[in-house]
Amino acid sequence: MSDLRYDGKVAVVTGAGAGLGRAYAEFLAARGASVVVNDLGGSTSGQGSSTKAADVVVENIVAAGGKAVASYESVENGNRIIDKAIEAFGRIDILINNAGILRDITFRKMTDRDWDAVYSVHLRGTYKTTRAAWSHFRKQKYGRVIMTSSATGLYGNFGQSNYSAAKAGMIGFGETLAKEGAKYNILTNVIAPMAASRLSGGVIPPDLAAQLSPAWVVPVVAMLVHSANTFENGSIFEVGATHVCKLRWERSTGALLKPDETMTPGAVLAKWQAVNDFSKPDHSGANPDMEYLQSLAVKIDRNPIGENVRFDGRVAVV
Ligand code: NAI
Repeated sequence: MSDLRYDGKVAVVTGAGAGLGRAYAEFLAARGASVVVNDLGGSTSGQGSSTKAADVVVENIVAAGGKAVASYESVENGNRIIDKAIEAFGRIDILINNAGILRDITFRKMTDRDWDAVYSVHLRGTYKTTRAAWSHFRKQKYGRVIMTSSATGLYGNFGQSNYSAAKAGMIGFGETLAKEGAKYNILTNVIAPMAASRLSGGVIPPDLAAQLSPAWVVPVVAMLVHSANTFENGSIFEVGATHVCKLRWERSTGALLKPDETMTPGAVLAKWQAVNDFSKPDHSGANPDMEYLQSLAVKIDRNPIGENVRFDGRVAVV
């Protein structure tokens, strides 16, 4: 079987001047895609800018016989990146939202600027770029989108509250676009990559970094953005060190209480074990069936009489 190619397709890769983005851009171009290499060329914390990062990658691609143009815009002006694709190549088929910065600092010391900078690049930048591409995808009834989340977005990480909030946002964003895009053949998937790069330099231990080439993330993303992918939409993958796996939600059995005045905090506390009972998990990935639950709840005889939970001396802001 011949391997997948991208002839005739136009791809936009944000943050393609380095690391993972560069690897995606060079790979797709080597396999026939026309690529917009977007990179602002700033520091890892998002300061400054330079045209060099994107230019070097475009030069490499062109020297190897591929088709690429540079875009030096910040993803915060994502519409201009998409305009570049239309101007240069007349269409857009693939959008890999990849640009990223870090402003690591404990939450106690977090400033509005640290919070806003990370939010603006990751979540708002992804919104701006994807929003501009969406109209084209809808019209042509074709699009493949990647959202780049992170293990930090999934599990949290010390000193990265701004980044984890933005990266978790990418998951909900991608899940919703998967639902809205499905009937127009616009498929959106989310990855949490792991790769040695400038950005992860300080986070990944040096001995592990050697095994974590961006090259091991590329084939997974390349498969997901190919037209042969007709089956993955709204999925979340962890990718790195040649390993790829899928994540899904797991719902516990849960506690169900009778809907009357005896449903007190103490009664909930008395049922807490059931809330943590994963012995019969539900993996539907959809809202609970409220009507069914209600029909069961009204049949419950009585709620447990728990301890009298009180809040004397505490101050609450609601
Ligand atoms: P990198 O620092 O090597 O590359 C990111 C690129 O994005 C840089 O070239 C930078 O100039 C560009 N960029 C930053 N802000 C931009 C903006 N406003 N507009 C356009 N370009 C901008 O980082 P790496 O590791 O390749 O990261 C790629 C993506 O993967 C990021 O979104 C990152 O958060 C994510 N990620 C990476 C992990 C890893 O292990 N390397 C782990 C989890 C997530």
